[in-house]
Amino acid sequence: MRAAVVRSFDSAPRYEWFDLPQLAGPSEVLAEVLAAGLHPRVRSQADGSHYTSGKELPIIPGIDGVGRLPDGRQVYFVAPSTPYGTLAEKAVIDLRRSVSLPEGADPVRIAAAMNPAMSSWVALRRRADFQPGQRVLVLGATGNSGQMAIQIAKLLGASQVIGAGRDPERLHALMELGADETVSLEGDPKEAADRLGEAAAEVDVVIDYLWGKPAELAMLPLLTRRSDRGRALTWIQIGSVAGPSAAVPSIALRSANFRLLGSGQGSVSTAGYVAEFPSLIDAITAGKLKVNAVAFPLSQVEEVWKAPSDPGQRIVFSPQG
Ligand SMILES: NC(=O)c1ccc[n+]([C@@H]2O[C@H](COP(=O)([O-])OP(=O)(O)OC[C@H]3O[C@@H](n4cnc5c(N)ncnc54)[C@H](OP(=O)(O)O)[C@@H]3O)[C@@H](O)[C@H]2O)c1
Repeated sequence: MRAAVVRSFDSAPRYEWFDLPQLAGPSEVLAEVLAAGLHPRVRSQADGSHYTSGKELPIIPGIDGVGRLPDGRQVYFVAPSTPYGTLAEKAVIDLRRSVSLPEGADPVRIAAAMNPAMSSWVALRRRADFQPGQRVLVLGATGNSGQMAIQIAKLLGASQVIGAGRDPERLHALMELGADETVSLEGDPKEAADRLGEAAAEVDVVIDYLWGKPAELAMLPLLTRRSDRGRALTWIQIGSVAGPSAAVPSIALRSANFRLLGSGQGSVSTAGYVAEFPSLIDAITAGKLKVNAVAFPLSQVEEVWKAPSDPGQRIVFSPQG
């Protein structure tokens, strides 16, 4: 088969011939991959930096996608944890980590949306005890996952959604996605944290894609301005585009009902993710979420990988041409 193959963590994948992956158990089948997204997680898998990455090479990157099973059914699936992922003409699908797509579902939209959308969908439904009517701040709302989080928080019944991010144009566009208010994170980081404190002190949930300094600096301004510090503020750490660590002020945990937790592979079980697939796929196919996808044939993987990508847009590869 043809696949995107990584032979060095320092280089982009190349489109090459590769042996078909082997099945490891009775729940697995070899399927045609119709569409697979180039998510940040796929890039970090390909450069060896993700926390789940092994050091084994070569690998085929790609963590999820839409496939066609031998019986013709189209499914969304998450790849088994092997070095041979979804950026290939064929991939192993563990049927326990897949779900059939409704008639007419667009493979590119599903492959683009599921990973970024799942991040907030699962966080709100499986990690935070989120209730309709609560208020949500999305930190890092201008990326793909943040844009989804704005829409998903509204879809799940948030009474107020505040989006915070840097890029002014994409920040402004969040209002069309349902944000009630936006906060700019451009400029001096302490001033940005103060702006967050003023705008978002009463939120119930923070969906945080940034971590690093912006998260560190925002915690106290948010907590100290709360009208009732006994009311829970659940901060869900999901991404770390602004830095892998943040110093959490001890006073934040002592002086307010501050609940800090994460959401991702490991803190949510595979079964927990799979159980959420159908309802999220329904929301995507019903057009309830705006998806910003651009598709390329997998044969162009190396040049597309190296080219600057349009932020806020999700690249999807179509291995069948
Ligand atoms: N745990 C999970 O389940 C899960 C699932 C999906 C994604 N994630 C993680 O969530 C993060 C975001 O993913 P994504 O899909 O939204 O990626 P993306 O589409 O590439 O967006 C990332 C955005 O982050 C912003 N950004 C980068 N550095 C920043 C900084 N220093 N300060 C403020 N903003 C910054 C940029 O927006 P501006 O141009 O406005 O600066 C960029 O558009 C990644 O770390 C990803 O791995 C986690």
